[in-house]
Amino acid sequence: MTTPRKILVTNALPYANGDIHLGHLVGYIQADIWVRYQRMRGNTVHYVCADDTHGTPVMLRAEKEGLTPEQLINRVHGEHLRDFTDFGVAFDNYHSTHSDENRWYAEDVYTRLRDSAKLIDTRSIEQFYDPVKEMFLPDRFIKGECPKCGAADQYGDNCESCGAAYAPTELKNPFSAVSGAKPVLKTSEHYFFRLSDPRAVEFLREWTQGSTPDGSRRLQQEAANKMKEWLGDSGENKLSDWDISRDAPYFGFEIPDAPGKYFYVWLDAPIGYFASFKNLAGKRGDIDVAAFTEAGPAAAAGTELIHFIGKDILYFHALFWPAMLHFAGYRSPTQLCVNGFLTVDGAKMSKSRGTFITARSYTEQKLNPEWLRYYFAGKSNATMEDVDLNLDDMIAKVNSDLVGKFVNIASRCAGFIAKRFDGKLGTHDAALALDWNVDEVTTAYEARDFSRALRKIMEFADRANGYVNDNKPWELAKQEGQEARLHEVCTTAINIFKALTGLLKPVLPKLAEQAEGFLNIAPFAWDNLLAPLPAGHAIGTYSHLMTRIERKQVDALLDANRDSLAPAATDTKPAKAEAKAASSEQRHAQHQAHAAATETAEASEFEPFISIDDFGKVDLRIARIVSAEHVEGAAKLLRLQLDIGEEKPRQVFAGIKSAYDPATLVGRMTVMVANLAPRKMKFGMSEGMVLAASDASGETPGLFILSPDLGATPGMRVK
Ligand code: 2FM
Ligand code: ZN
Repeated sequence: MTTPRKILVTNALPYANGDIHLGHLVGYIQADIWVRYQRMRGNTVHYVCADDTHGTPVMLRAEKEGLTPEQLINRVHGEHLRDFTDFGVAFDNYHSTHSDENRWYAEDVYTRLRDSAKLIDTRSIEQFYDPVKEMFLPDRFIKGECPKCGAADQYGDNCESCGAAYAPTELKNPFSAVSGAKPVLKTSEHYFFRLSDPRAVEFLREWTQGSTPDGSRRLQQEAANKMKEWLGDSGENKLSDWDISRDAPYFGFEIPDAPGKYFYVWLDAPIGYFASFKNLAGKRGDIDVAAFTEAGPAAAAGTELIHFIGKDILYFHALFWPAMLHFAGYRSPTQLCVNGFLTVDGAKMSKSRGTFITARSYTEQKLNPEWLRYYFAGKSNATMEDVDLNLDDMIAKVNSDLVGKFVNIASRCAGFIAKRFDGKLGTHDAALALDWNVDEVTTAYEARDFSRALRKIMEFADRANGYVNDNKPWELAKQEGQEARLHEVCTTAINIFKALTGLLKPVLPKLAEQAEGFLNIAPFAWDNLLAPLPAGHAIGTYSHLMTRIERKQVDALLDANRDSLAPAATDTKPAKAEAKAASSEQRHAQHQAHAAATETAEASEFEPFISIDDFGKVDLRIARIVSAEHVEGAAKLLRLQLDIGEEKPRQVFAGIKSAYDPATLVGRMTVMVANLAPRKMKFGMSEGMVLAASDASGETPGLFILSPDLGATPGMRVK
């Protein structure tokens, strides 16, 4: 047996001045899945997070709400923790950077960097100052006209109209976004971490290209490449020293021996990882903190430190943070797991379209958080690519995979075990040995390629459904003398369901826990997932494990988030714009991140671009209308039978009654979507969709079905 791993896992600390939204949840859900998987394998994982509470935006937001910063961060702490808990993101500790532990670590790191490593400098710099508010202004709180294109009302670090990046002092007609006053230039003394020191550059070149103890990359390939770009070639020195101080008034920790000077929020934010961990250790009593945080003890104990972050904060985590840790005598991170941004239906999250969806609104609309966990997992492949939440795709995936293929196995068979066999299982059918090769699932989970893991699990589920469909327990139940066979088939199905549930547990922890209750088994561990339950094992009563998503629930969610007052311009800001006081060092990174966010659909009435591969998923076929008739009780529908070259015609309900007399349709050729998941309608199954054109503006009323040119025959693919 291999020795269990000991891992400290963190997620980026969310700012304490904004709500958790679905964009945040991508990275948290990915980390949580990985943590749960590691624990099922028997590894020890400490999983911590905290609120990122310091800085000017929090200070100003509190003032605006008539609160002290402490009151604001206390309230937000509760809200954030509730949201994470609702989505199954189960930190062992959710702490705060405004804490005694964090102050202690921040001072310790700083004094070690200053006194032992000699990497702290002071120097005077000139910055914009708001003479009315009597405070220095972070870049994001200075606005003016873009020095390149002249666009009005641009932030101090980059132009959202032309994309140019610049220093705030370059803005034309600058004004303070806090008071509206014209800012003046003022000098003050700042503290710098000397990142340009050759020791730091050399360390970072090594560290960013390094690997983990198991031979994986410390940074994903794309991230490592980005770092190479930022660090330049050996001999070059592209790094600037990092300004780690801010002047009062500031909400944060005062720098030791420097009255009126505060640590910049990004100095103490990542230190919050350690603070939260130390706070956890204080509550638990069995954790050796130094074995995870101090360089020597960590190396001796073979512990790992893994950070899950979004790509917009790579700069901080791959440069400043490891260098700070290393030169202060702390351990540097083992690995960074970097995720991309979230787009919704192919475009950047937008308040006017209702796609800037808060975690809170999702749960308030009674949508099941595990639907989203499953969908995000299916889109996660351990790269930094953006993740697209396509709402129709989410409905189809959840309904077909989770309800149709997975939960249905249990719901179709559990009743027979309860009613006919006193709740007791029989023997497993030897014809369906559970000899699945789960190695591929294991490897995929390990590598955070959850989409591959789920594809494999669904392949197992397909086989299982084949077994149930072939053996038809509902028919066996009606036949005489088939009692033993019914028992065997249902038992086998329950065993399959158990194995699938165990494999899905990292993604669907709540459902899996309920299933453990229903199956009357101990919590799943990775090494006993496939073992069939013994004959005679009593299971509990099955109750609904998951319902289908209805489109109307998703529409209600969009409505709940639609800010009809949001001007289009609001939507073009990056998701975190208001929460971020970007430093000039970060400008470069942020600029790139903004460019990555898709904004195509914002102003256009067309759908966002899709790839040819996406288009290829739609199977369009030439269809001959074999019959067409009115449907009793349906105001808009006609029932069509469509020949697409299959054995028997497909039944499709089409909403074209207002435009066509059924008799005129019979014999006509048209085009249908042949691979739209069949839908059960009030009047029967609809097995596809007929395409029709209409004018949304209403200028040309009516509906127009399509016709191919002469010569096309039923079943031809339309591409
Ligand atoms: O970008 C953000 O949302 C920051 N609050 C993340 C901080 S992560 C860590 F360094 F604290
Ligand atoms: Zn511009």
